[in-house]
Amino acid sequence: MAHKTLALCCWRMIQLKGNLKTVLADKLEPEQLKRIYRTFDIVGDVAIVRVPDSQRHLSRLIAEAIMNTHREVKAVWRQSSSVSGDYRLRSLEFLLGEKTAETVYKEHGCVYKTDLRKAYFSPRLSYERMRIAGLVQKGEAVVNMFAGVGCFSIAIAKHSEPLKVYSVDVNPSAYQYLLENIRLNRAETVVVPLQGDAKEVTEKQLQKVADRVLMPLPEKAYEYLDVALLALKPAGGWIHYYSFEYAKKDKDPVQEAETKLAKKLRLLCTDFKVEFGRIVRPIGPRWYQVVLDVKVRK
Ligand SMILES: C[S@@+](CC[C@H](N)C(=O)[O-])C[C@H]1O[C@@H](n2cnc3c(N)ncnc32)[C@H](O)[C@@H]1O
Repeated sequence: MAHKTLALCCWRMIQLKGNLKTVLADKLEPEQLKRIYRTFDIVGDVAIVRVPDSQRHLSRLIAEAIMNTHREVKAVWRQSSSVSGDYRLRSLEFLLGEKTAETVYKEHGCVYKTDLRKAYFSPRLSYERMRIAGLVQKGEAVVNMFAGVGCFSIAIAKHSEPLKVYSVDVNPSAYQYLLENIRLNRAETVVVPLQGDAKEVTEKQLQKVADRVLMPLPEKAYEYLDVALLALKPAGGWIHYYSFEYAKKDKDPVQEAETKLAKKLRLLCTDFKVEFGRIVRPIGPRWYQVVLDVKVRK
């Protein structure tokens, strides 16, 4: 089963990325080719391409090449900033096709509708979503503190047998798509949508309810650890903690994350054990997204 899941994910990643240099080989000079990024993402029927400012004048040509070679693509956008802000959004500049960034993306039997301008979405977390879904036990209550349009929550509802997956997000647009995705995936009896800041929502409605807490927001997970502990049942449970780590050549980013997390959990007087950790994906030179699966006894 584990092997089958992994194979499916690899296949999906290949489908998600096109090789821009191959697509443009007969249209650009070798010097120009050197300066453009090799890959682009296709989410549903929308393509997102990164074009360096110095090559911006080639944007339309690049967009045309993508649409000519990928018939399923109905719109091409240029990503003009990295993901930023509380809602974790990126700036997109329209290049070609229909002027919409709303799309429907299918993964592992789940359907996700989203607008890439209005809510965070990453097809690159596909394996991680299935990994977490595979850990959830029958009858568990799960709190997803940073749910976005519901990718982790719906994968868990579809592939495991949880009692409830409480799913919180502060972005009103992400919340609207979360509502729609719950309906599209017929997950109404399991996924409970909640709009607001995870700290406020947990204090008001989710204290001591969870067997498992997901923290898929690396920028805030450290700061919100006390909130995750508050959501866990008195007997404790699991926390899936995500962080961004810088690691020098001889250092292990997973170990770096564990050291910082351990310091904080000790300050919060928690009995815990990091049972598993891995690099989710590299995000820049020596920078990594890391996940730690932490067993907590309160
Ligand atoms: C990196 S995205 C992850 C979304 C989703 N889990 C996924 O993988 O697609 C983090 C999400 O956290 C939300 N967020 C940011 N700060 C928050 C807060 N204080 N409380 C609740 N949600 C928050 C953002 O709006 C964003 O949708």
